Amino acid sequence: MATPSELVISRPGPAARAGRTRDSAEENLISRLAHVVPSAEIALSLPLIGSIVALKRERNAVVVAHNYQSPLITAGIADFVGDSLAMARYAARCDAPVIVVCGVEFMAETAKLLCPDKTVLLPNLQAGCSLAASISPQDIRNLRERHPGTPVVAYVNTSAAVKAEVDICCTSANAVSVARSLRAHKIIMVPDQHLAGYVAACTGLEIVSSQGQCEVHVKYSGVDIDDYRATTGAVVLAHPECTRDVQQRADFVGSTSAMADYLSERRPRRVLLLTECSMADNVAMLHPEIEFLKPCNLCSYMKSITLNNVELVLQDGSNEIMIDPATAARARRPIERMLAL
Ligand code: 13P
Ligand code: SF4
Repeated sequence: MATPSELVISRPGPAARAGRTRDSAEENLISRLAHVVPSAEIALSLPLIGSIVALKRERNAVVVAHNYQSPLITAGIADFVGDSLAMARYAARCDAPVIVVCGVEFMAETAKLLCPDKTVLLPNLQAGCSLAASISPQDIRNLRERHPGTPVVAYVNTSAAVKAEVDICCTSANAVSVARSLRAHKIIMVPDQHLAGYVAACTGLEIVSSQGQCEVHVKYSGVDIDDYRATTGAVVLAHPECTRDVQQRADFVGSTSAMADYLSERRPRRVLLLTECSMADNVAMLHPEIEFLKPCNLCSYMKSITLNNVELVLQDGSNEIMIDPATAARARRPIERMLAL
């Protein structure tokens, strides 16, 4: 979901407060946000958005945001919005010397691995991920010992130190094709047991996984889906980090961008989107005619990125991502192997 350039505010400060009329970019942004963000919050955020846009220009920086970031970030300040695979591809090809990652730590590390000479800033260094926290480099070495000769795939939701131990990476968008590309009947795929279950079901491969799970997606249950569908007739889309039970009851399973593409193509009237809450808001800005049912679950790590901490890192260059060069050299290989597919 790339953000069209006309959505970016071109001037700092709220036009209204400065006593001037708003320009068309500001009006355009306000009308997009109006569908999903309360008007008082938009008014409060406009000065900050203007300041960040000016700082980006000053520092020659780009903001790369994940689909789970709030609309004030995706529509207000991002140069690119997408899933973790698209973010990595964008980082690899962009020219700007400074990349601000509005996402979680593993996404910023991936950008740094692909662009070692660039400055990569993560607005909040506490923005972790329950999947990345669930596995260590030693766990990978133990798995290799127990399953000698079995190729190891790491979900991109892992630390650079873990990536340094594996053969290839995958994201939820390409996990099935990465698994098939290995031409093995058995693979190790870590750390998300539910993504591994999804890939095993799609490919028929024997998959050894670990016990990791996403603390946001496992909150959905299959029973909830049946109730919602029965009472609302909603189309159900689920991320592959949801449990197998949820995956099997959903109408469609896919990465965040695959879900966005499904909705753009099919335009169902009513949708239950089993993923992080901001995903629905971001799609709703593009398709206000689609009704998104709540509840949804928030990722506290994703939500620890705010306009305030983005402004701060652009002002003082803090929170720069650094990876020890020896680890980086080994961790880069499985990512590049994935991107080459
Ligand atoms: P995507 O790869 O689908 O963007 O998902 C990343 C993620 O962290 C989902 O919880
Ligand atoms: Fe990690 Fe889950 Fe948050 Fe994605 S939604 S960043 S997998 S904790």
